[in-house]
Amino acid sequence: MGNIVVLGAQWGDEGKGKVVDLFAERFDIVIRYQGGHNAGHTVRIQDRQFILKLVPSGILCGKLAVIGNGLVIDPAALLEEIEMLEKAGIQVRGRLFISNRAHVIFPFHRMLERISEARPGRLAIGTTSRGIGPCYEDKVARRGIRMADLLDRDNFRQLYDALAEDKEVVRTAFRIGEPIDFAAIRAQYEEYAERLRPMVCDTAKLLNEAIRSGRRLLFEGAQGTMLDIDHGTYPFVTSSSACAGGAPIGAGVPPTAIHAVVGVSKAYVTRVGGGPFPTEALDERGEALRRVGVEFGAVTGRPRRCGWFDIPLLRYTAMINGFDSLVITKLDVLDQFDEIPVCVGYKLHGQPIDEMPATHRAMSAVEPVYEMLPGWRSSTFGLTRYEDLPTRARQYLDFLEERIGVEIGCISTGPERDQTIWRPGGKLRDLLER
Ligand code: IMP
Repeated sequence: MGNIVVLGAQWGDEGKGKVVDLFAERFDIVIRYQGGHNAGHTVRIQDRQFILKLVPSGILCGKLAVIGNGLVIDPAALLEEIEMLEKAGIQVRGRLFISNRAHVIFPFHRMLERISEARPGRLAIGTTSRGIGPCYEDKVARRGIRMADLLDRDNFRQLYDALAEDKEVVRTAFRIGEPIDFAAIRAQYEEYAERLRPMVCDTAKLLNEAIRSGRRLLFEGAQGTMLDIDHGTYPFVTSSSACAGGAPIGAGVPPTAIHAVVGVSKAYVTRVGGGPFPTEALDERGEALRRVGVEFGAVTGRPRRCGWFDIPLLRYTAMINGFDSLVITKLDVLDQFDEIPVCVGYKLHGQPIDEMPATHRAMSAVEPVYEMLPGWRSSTFGLTRYEDLPTRARQYLDFLEERIGVEIGCISTGPERDQTIWRPGGKLRDLLER
């Protein structure tokens, strides 16, 4: 009983790493279910900081960690991350399990992505350039190579050579001058296979057996709902199902095995890469959010676009995911403002709308309707008790909660585990204890 999904309620980078790390002690296994090393979960534990891209952050507190079938894996990136963790004294072997059905990223995926992003006349998505999209393309086209294939030497050679032939056709058709040394890549991947072999298994079986024996699972979303391939701001999205519905598919457990969904949202909004962002603040206040919030991508170092809290967006992601509770992060970044704009509605061509536009053109034309809330102008950094929050900060949170229609069960006031406020009377604590 009591398996939960924790995921981003905006465009990613909401601070899920810390939240998962905070919740993980109550669970037995932490599972990633989609994406790849485009994600960057930052976890601070005392004076140590870890940026995890593929390995579920539960590994840091001694839990079992599973990389599910829904992921795309760059073996070089994964091995590098394992090495980094082991050097830091974290035990990975025997605790990390990789799905034999997860797909494998190759260097030519990255190359094709770079070329496709730069082609004149194409919409540049502003991807993380990790080869994520092209790898998922091969998966859906049914020519992808999975971990199980990589480990099966003869089969791998055959599948790999067929895939290489396809990519060579693409390279020639698009007149890509850069040669691809397919044989060298194959040899390299055969070596990676041996290093990863002890960790690869049927993780769906492992998880279902764990459920039967009463162990508790925590599913860790990557990116955020607005980057979901179906429900996000298409085509400015990632290539996987980042919403809660992606968890059962990407982990191989029945939907009925998930008992609660927790959304994580910043007290404002950020986005990396291209695409519509109705509440983006392009003035000095946006700059202030970036500076105080240190809003630079954990994976790519790109400056994040910053803006104001968007209620219609949260109402939408609450609808898609069915949030039972919300965690609000980085409240302290708003400490300095006299007034805080909050978007309470959208207008399109002057008319109020009550649904999320489906096209990026319409989404880009949305005019946010703001209400100004008074700032509190005192430090909330590191507070641990709800009663210690300034009255106006509490009013800000009450306003969000009431308009979104989902309780705010927890507030993060800094990067450390203990810089956290549990909302008195909130049901989140019960959900975690169940
Ligand atoms: P991709 O996932 O590399 O294909 O990039 C697609 C879009 O998702 C781009 O706008 C990226 O900036 C964004 N994206 C991918 N991963 C993350 C993440 O972990 N946080 C925030 N944005 C992300």
